[in-house]
Amino acid sequence: MKDRIQNIVDVIRKKTDFVPKVALTLGSGLGNFAQEIRVVEEISYHDLPDFPVSTAPGHAGKFIFGYVGSVPVVCMAGRVHLYEGYSTEDVVTPARVMHALGAKVLFLSNAAGGLKPSYHAGTLALVTDHISCFIPNPLIGPNDDEEGVRFPDMTHAYDPELQDIIRKAADREGIPLDSGVYVQLTGPSFETPAEIRMIRAIGGDIVGMSTVVEAIAAVHMGMRVCCVSLISNLAAGISPVPLSSEDVNAAGEAAAPLFTKLVKASIEAMGETL
Ligand code: HPA
Repeated sequence: MKDRIQNIVDVIRKKTDFVPKVALTLGSGLGNFAQEIRVVEEISYHDLPDFPVSTAPGHAGKFIFGYVGSVPVVCMAGRVHLYEGYSTEDVVTPARVMHALGAKVLFLSNAAGGLKPSYHAGTLALVTDHISCFIPNPLIGPNDDEEGVRFPDMTHAYDPELQDIIRKAADREGIPLDSGVYVQLTGPSFETPAEIRMIRAIGGDIVGMSTVVEAIAAVHMGMRVCCVSLISNLAAGISPVPLSSEDVNAAGEAAAPLFTKLVKASIEAMGETL
């Protein structure tokens, strides 16, 4: 694992010595945010050794290095998922690489199904906590003690100070921001209505197929994690219509202006604290 990360970092370092502070992962349909970045360098995942490349619709495949305001960021346009057949190790490789490049914050985003009565398609929700549901933990296996402890605490997996920064940025910009607990399942089938009732019963508000494994690996490495979900649809059995990835991506595109405004304002505010 360590060699794999180092090999990827070595290739990136031949192209750029850029040191990001914030690592940003863009979810389905949210790739437009990349337009907000003053780009310094772009590196296609295809040019990196043993780097997992997404097959999912709505996901490009490159690292973008540059600035949001004055904050140096590395942005992943495109990420891989467990449902594509990738291992948890593959799925968390990009987060490990961005950490190795210097990123202190992992800002995750995703398009997801919504369960909370206050949600509608297009709601932006700050993730306050997560539930790992029938997915393997990315830390299973030998622990790298230099990277993090064997049993990492997850009490504040989503950094309270970063949550506060994002809430305040939303307030300042006049962007409605809900919140919730994110539940990751493997996918790729959307949930059944019965599964959604189970998720509700165990305390979930937001359901999706990403994020939790990356958050766990990042917390383990000592990164500060935050996440904004775009509720692209009400969850199965709550939604009056069947779910489709086309609708998920379309909702991402429709919400892109508000999402972009929120993420930009949040990162700029984070820059002052990093
Ligand atoms: N369920 C799981 N993942 C999703 C959904 C959903 O309803 N919408 C977007 N990603």
